[in-house]
Amino acid sequence: MDIERLNKHNWARYRDQILAIEKNAYEAARRDEPRTLERIACNPAGVSLVATEGDQVTGFCLAGPLEDFSHVHGPNTDPTLSSRTTLYSADTCVASQWRGRGLGRQLKLAQLVQAAGAGYRIVSGRNRAGLAHAMWVLNRSLGARALHLIENDYADSLEPNLCIYYHITLPVPDEGQ
Ligand SMILES: CC(C)(COP(=O)(O)OP(=O)(O)OC[C@H]1O[C@@H](n2cnc3c(N)ncnc32)[C@H](O)[C@@H]1OP(=O)(O)O)[C@@H](O)C(=O)NCCC(=O)NCCS
Repeated sequence: MDIERLNKHNWARYRDQILAIEKNAYEAARRDEPRTLERIACNPAGVSLVATEGDQVTGFCLAGPLEDFSHVHGPNTDPTLSSRTTLYSADTCVASQWRGRGLGRQLKLAQLVQAAGAGYRIVSGRNRAGLAHAMWVLNRSLGARALHLIENDYADSLEPNLCIYYHITLPVPDEGQ
C-alpha cells in the first residue's frame, strides 16, 4: 500500500476514483462537490493524502487550513480560528472493500504526522454521530475530544442528526531536533 500527498499535479490521475469512493460512502448531506474536493486536495497549505494499491485508489483523506472552512458550523466558532495553526480534516474515506484492515488508521496517522511537520498544532473535524461511528472511534483513539455538539446540522431526515466537532492536539515538535 502506498500513501502519497495529493497536489495539483497528481489530482487528475486520482480524481475519478476518489469521486467514486466519495459517492459510494456518503449520504447526500455529507457529500462534497467535486470542485470543493479538488480545491482542498490541491491546496499546498493543506495535508491531503491518497492511498493506492497498484492503480487502484483504496482511500484518501483531505484537509486544509481551518480558515478555509470558516463558513462551516464547527470551524466558525472554533477558538483557534484565525490562528492559522489548526488543520481542518474535511474528509477521510476508505473504499468499502478495503475497510477494517487498518487503512483508515494509517491515513489518519500519516495526516497527523505531516500536519505536525507542517507546523500545525491541532487537527479538527466534524463527525456525524452514528453514521460516522467508525471514524469517531478511530479519532478518539488518536486523542480526539469533542469541542461542540451541533444539532440538526445535516440537510436530511436521517437520525441521529448530530455533528461532533472535535480537536486532536498534536505533539509540539522537540526544539533542537
Ligand atoms: C471511517 C473509515 C475511514 C475507517 O477506515 P478503516 O480502514 O475501515 O479503519 P481501520 O481498519 O483503520 O480501523 C481503525 C479503527 O476504527 C474503528 N473502527 C473501524 N471500523 C469500525 C466499525 N465498523 N465500528 C466501530 N469502530 C470501527 C476501530 O476502532 C479501529 O481500531 P483498531 O485499529 O483498534 O481496530 C471507513 O469506515 C470509512 O471510509 N467510512 C465511510 C466514510 C466516513 O464515514 N468517513 C468519516 C467521515 S466524518
